[in-house]
This record gives sequence, structure tokens and C-alpha cells, in this order.
Amino acid sequence: MTETVRIVEVGPRDGLQNETAPLPVEARVELIRRLAGTGLECIEAGSFVSPKKVPQMADTGAVLKALMPDKTRRFPVLVPNLRGLEDALAAGAQEIAVFLAASDAFSQHNINCDMAESLKRTEPVMREAEAAGVKVRGYLSCVLGCPYQGEVPASAVRRMAGALHEMGCYEVSLGDTIGVGTPGKAKAMFEAVAAEVPMAQLAAHFHDTCGQALANLYAVWQSGIRVMDASVGGLGGCPYAPGASGNVATEDVLYMLDGLGVAPPVDLKKLVETSWWICKRLGREPRSHVAAAKPPADLRRLERGISAD
Ligand code: HMG
Ligand code: MG
Repeated sequence: MTETVRIVEVGPRDGLQNETAPLPVEARVELIRRLAGTGLECIEAGSFVSPKKVPQMADTGAVLKALMPDKTRRFPVLVPNLRGLEDALAAGAQEIAVFLAASDAFSQHNINCDMAESLKRTEPVMREAEAAGVKVRGYLSCVLGCPYQGEVPASAVRRMAGALHEMGCYEVSLGDTIGVGTPGKAKAMFEAVAAEVPMAQLAAHFHDTCGQALANLYAVWQSGIRVMDASVGGLGGCPYAPGASGNVATEDVLYMLDGLGVAPPVDLKKLVETSWWICKRLGREPRSHVAAAKPPADLRRLERGISAD
């Protein structure tokens, strides 16, 4: 039997970090609780970064503290440096993610240092996290293209992903930050990186700018990827990746995985309801085909066996 795919829900972090108006802590907590209620077991709760740079993620400590009583879910948070790690630990974080890039130009815009320096900054974070018994996931951005540099050589992706693995990241999530990849390129890139990092320790993080994210996920699934990042309602983007759109929608990923017989136990109906709830809160419609096809009212009518017309 083919292995079930794990979904890492990044909506409350990647999704909300790009919203023009920051959501208050209570709304962020409610979103995460609703997502947890669908059965999703790993939900990124926010970032411990400079609030001047990303005001949307300010007060992630308060979000995490409100969630802490729930020990049945994992709530990783992004951490860029030792200061971020200290704040995350003080708020009770059990798991963090470091985030680097395969492009010097993007790295400079995003975290104010080049790739070499980002690796140096990450070393003490890894050491301290290990000492605190905290698991670390690694992100690598711009694996299929950079908004500033354009093409990104596969050699840089392999080298940086390999370094994160060597440093002790239990998993490395490869990000098509600006959503320019296509299935052939995505598959080839993952297979090249698998020479450095075992496929079982890689995850796919696709933004959907060019509408290829779901096709890319299917392609890399065929190569053996079993962890996929996704964002409820297709929310998302990076403030330092101009023009990039949201992550692939979790509803659409779940629907595809269900069709393949490898979906995790997540309630699609509740997920669609959560998608409409957060999008209404943000004043827009979900960027998800499944959510658009099954708005909550229609789901209720279908459940009662009444035609949606
Ligand atoms: P820096 O300027 O090099 O750091 O920023 P610094 O040490 O010189 O400090 C500058 C200011 O930031 C100081 O405050 C520090 O106190 C403060 P000031 O004196 O100006 O008042 N500071 C902090 N404040 C809170 N928490 C911290 C922290 N560190 C310093 N941890 C830094 C370096 C990384 C902090 C900054 O550039 C930053 O916060 N960048 C934001 C990056 C970010 O969040 N990007 C989005 C997430 S990545 C992403 O979305 C991609 C991903 O989804 C995958 C994909 O799609 O590819 C993961
Ligand atoms: Mg992202």
C-alpha cells in the first residue's frame, strides 16, 4: 500500500504574513484551532522575526501560548536567528523552522545576509535548539527561480539543502517561492537534491503563481515525496517575493491525495468551511478550486441530498 502523505499547513504563517492588514492574535488563534479541528496535525503558527519587517507575524508568542494546551498537534514557528529562538522557546515552542535560500539576492532581501552568512547564522540556532530538545525543520527558498536573480543553479539548491540536512534539520522543505516551476523541472530538481538529502527527508512547498502547483506536487509525489506544504484557501506569499501568489490550497491538495488513496485523515468539509471563514474575514474568496466548487452552504445542501440549485 502506498504511504499516506503528510500535509504541513502553512496558512497561519505563510498565508497571513503577506496580508496587508495584520490579523489580531485572537483571529490567528481561532484560525489555527479551526484547522486543528479538521484533523490537520502540523500547523505552522507564525514567525519570530522582526515586527518592523513582517508586522503580520508580531505577537507570535501570544499565539503560541494560547495554543500550548493542545498537545495533540504540532505548531512549528519560523526562527531566523538566536534572538528568534530565545523568544520562541520562552513562548513554549516545541518545534521551529529555519529558513534560508538558494539565491544570494533573495537571501539578502529576505534576511539581510547572503547564503554563506545565513549558514553561519543557522549553526548556533541548530546547536541551541538541539540543547533545548526542539526539532528543527529547514526551508530553502527559490529552488526553481528567484524574483531578483532569475535562474537558480541546481548546484546551489543541492549544496544548500545538503548543508541544512548535515546541520541536523529533520526535514528540508524545498520552496518554489515565486511559483514559476513546472512538473518536469520540479521533478528533476527534487531528484537532483535527493542525491544529497534522502527523498524521505524532503518536503515540497509550492506557490501557485502560474497555476502549476498541484501538477508539480503530483510530479514530485511520483518521485517519492510524501510531505507537502499547503495553505488553507491558497493564502500566502512572501513579503520579499514581489508578484508571487499564495501557496497551493490545502483543500485542493487534500482532494487530489484522496483521489490517489493517500490522503491523511483530514475532514475536507470542515477544511472548506475554515477556508471560507478565513477568506471572509480577510474580505475575499478562497483561491481554491475545491472551496469554490463546494462553498459551505452547498456542502450542507448536498449532505441533505438536495440539489445545489
Ligand atoms: P537584520 O537587520 O540582519 O538583523 O535582520 P539585526 O540583528 O541587525 O536587527 C535589526 C532589527 O531587527 C533590530 O531591531 C533587532 O532587534 C530586530 P531595531 O534595533 O531596528 O529596533 N530583530 C528581531 N526582532 C524580533 N525577532 C527577531 C529579531 N532579530 C532581529 N528574531 C532578520 C535579520 C532576519 C531578523 C530580518 O531580516 C527579518 O526579520 N526578516 C523577515 C524575514 C521573513 O520573515 N520572511 C518571510 C518568511 S520566509 C518565506 O516566506 C519563505 C518560505 O515560505 C519558503 C518559500 O516559500 O520559499 C519559508
Ligand atoms: Mg512560502
